[in-house]
Amino acid sequence: MLASRGRRLWQEPEDREVAVEFVTIYHLVVEGMLGLTGQHFMIRYNEQAGTLPGFVEGFSNVARDEHRHVAFGAWFLRDMARRDRRYADAIRRTLVEVVPIADGVLRPNWMQNMSDEDVALFGVSGQNNADLRRAGAVAPPEGRHGRRDAALSAGRSRVRCGRPPVRRR
Ligand SMILES: [Fe+2]
Repeated sequence: MLASRGRRLWQEPEDREVAVEFVTIYHLVVEGMLGLTGQHFMIRYNEQAGTLPGFVEGFSNVARDEHRHVAFGAWFLRDMARRDRRYADAIRRTLVEVVPIADGVLRPNWMQNMSDEDVALFGVSGQNNADLRRAGAVAPPEGRHGRRDAALSAGRSRVRCGRPPVRRR
């Protein structure tokens, strides 16, 4: 969807409606909905686990910059919607098309029977930390589940890590 709008914009750079569709997908959905969400959970997890302080500092700066990109997109879209009703319609039409797909990224089909908390924590635990340990970026866990358990304590004990979770019936 983004690539097709990009190609159309490349071919017809004066087409404002395509520009509105592109900015809606890129700035609102890709950066705003997906990018900021992923950044938030990666930063929060590492802060809670006490891991990768340099990454947290640097990635917090990236996230702060990302907010500016999203704000620019929102400003552009608001301005265009005020100019002409057809641009407001283009924003709504594009969101209706794209948001269900983006929602599938945040909550894949195989996670439908899991709690919101499990979904949020799955993406920043298990395999990610195993990869980081292999790279020597994170210390080996203490005890059976190590730092993950410490970070995910206080009633968050149902997190399954390192493999797709089993569906609840
Ligand atoms: Fe960005």
